[in-house]
Amino acid sequence: MTPSDVKATLSFSDGSPSMDMPIFKGSVGPDVIDICKLYAQTGKFTYDPGFLSTAACQSNITYIDGDKGERLYRGDPIEQLAEHCNYLETCYLLLKGELPNAAQKHDFTKLVTNHTMVNEQMQFFLRGFRRDAHPMAIMTGLVGALSAFYHDSTDITNPQHREISAIRLIAKMPTLVSMAYKYTVGQPYIYPKNDLSYSGNFMRMMFATPCEEYVPNDVLVRAMDRIFILHADHEQNASTSTVRLCGSSGTNPFAAIAAGVACLWGPAHGGANEAALNMLEDVQRMGGVEKIGEFIAKVKDKNSGVKLMGFGHRVYKNYDPRAKLMRETCYEVLNALGLHDDPLFKLAMALEKIALEDDYFVSRKLYPNVDFYSGIVQRAIGIPTPLFTAVFALARTVGWIAQLNEMIGDAEYKIGRPRQLFMGSTARNVTPILQRS
Ligand code: CMC
Repeated sequence: MTPSDVKATLSFSDGSPSMDMPIFKGSVGPDVIDICKLYAQTGKFTYDPGFLSTAACQSNITYIDGDKGERLYRGDPIEQLAEHCNYLETCYLLLKGELPNAAQKHDFTKLVTNHTMVNEQMQFFLRGFRRDAHPMAIMTGLVGALSAFYHDSTDITNPQHREISAIRLIAKMPTLVSMAYKYTVGQPYIYPKNDLSYSGNFMRMMFATPCEEYVPNDVLVRAMDRIFILHADHEQNASTSTVRLCGSSGTNPFAAIAAGVACLWGPAHGGANEAALNMLEDVQRMGGVEKIGEFIAKVKDKNSGVKLMGFGHRVYKNYDPRAKLMRETCYEVLNALGLHDDPLFKLAMALEKIALEDDYFVSRKLYPNVDFYSGIVQRAIGIPTPLFTAVFALARTVGWIAQLNEMIGDAEYKIGRPRQLFMGSTARNVTPILQRS
C-alpha cells in the first residue's frame, strides 16, 4: 500500500503536539486514515463501537457500495454471477480471484464432489444432541467438531492444510445441514449423490427418504443455487469479522468457521430470515393484511421493541441488490409451484408497499433486505424455518474461508486485539465477606 499525497492531521485543543497520519486510497470506496501509530505517538486510542468508521483490514474480495446498492465479488457484479454462473463457480471466484474456465470448473466441481461425505463417526456425535435442538446449535457443534475428525488439515499456517480444509468445508456443509435437519425430524440421513449438482444434491439430502426418491425440480434447484450465490460473501460483516478475529489467534480453520456459524445465528445477522418469516406468520395470525397498520404502528413505537425484520441494513442505505434478485426468484418459485396466491407472500408484498411509503422507513433509509424474501423462497421450497440460518451458513462458508485465507496471507497479519475505554472502578481493596452489603 502506498500512502496518498494528502495527510490527515490530528490536533488537540489542549496544546498537545499534533500528529500527521497517512491516508490510503482503495481501488474504489472511502479512503482510510492510518491510525496504527496513534497510540505510540499520543497515548490515545480511537473509540468506535460497532466499527462505524473503522476498516479492520484491507481486502480484495468483496466490494459493497451501500448508496448505489452495488455488490461485487472480485469485481464481478452479483447480478451477473446470479444470471450466468452457478454457486461452485462463484466459490472458485471468491477463493482464487477469477472465474474458472471450463476445465477448471470441471476439476473444481470434481474435487468438491469427492469430499461430500462426512466421517461416518459424525452421526454418533450428532446423536448427543436433543432432537429438538436448534439446527444452528447443532451446526456450531458439527462444524467445530470437523477439527476432531480431519487432523490432517488443521494447521492454518500450512497452505496445503488450508486448501484441503476449504474444500472439505464447502463440500461437507450441505451434508451437515441436511443431517442436522434429518436428525431433528427423526428421519435417516441421506448420503450425498455425486452425480447431482451441488444444490440439487443438497435438496435431495434434505427431502429424499430411503423409501421415496426426491427428483430435483430445475426451478427450485436454481433458486437454491441463487440463494447460495447471494449469500456467499459480504465483506467485513459480523460473522466474517468473527472468523478473522478467531483465526488471527492461529486456531484451526474448522474452529474459526464454527465461530462464524455461532455469530451468524443472531437475529440481527443471519437469523434475520428466520425472524422475518416468523414475523410474517405472527402478523398473519393477528389477522393478516387487515392488521398491517396496527403492526407498523408497533414497529414505529420505540418502546415496543418490535422491528420490521428483513428491513434495514448497516451498509445498504438505498436498496439491497440481493433483495432485488431474491424478489425475482420469489416470483419464479411461487409460479413454478402454483403458489402465486400464497397468503404469506401477499402479506409480505402489502407490508413492503406500506413500509416503503411510510416516512418512518423512508427518512431512515430502511429498505427490504435479502432476508425479507429469502425466507418466503425457502419456505416454498420446503426448507423449515429453523433451518434458514443454517442454509445461510452453508452459503457463507466459502466467503469466511476466502477472507480467512486472505488474512493469513496478509503481510500485516497479526492477532486481533481491540482496546477499550475503561469506565469501571479504579484500584480498590477487596472487602472481607462479612463487611460486604
Ligand atoms: N425496523 C424498525 N426500525 C428500524 C429497523 C427495522 N428493521 N432497522 C433500523 N431501524 C431504525 C432504528 O431504530 C433507528 O431509529 P432511530 O434513528 O430513530 O433511533 C434507525 O432505524 C437506524 O437504525 P440502526 O439500528 O442505527 O441501524 P444499524 O445500521 O445499526 O442496523 C440492522 C442495521 C440490520 C441491524 C437493523 O436495520 C435491523 O435490526 N434490521 C432488522 C434485522 C434484519 O433484517 N437484519 C438483516 C440484515 S441483512 C443480512 C445480513 O447482511 O447479515
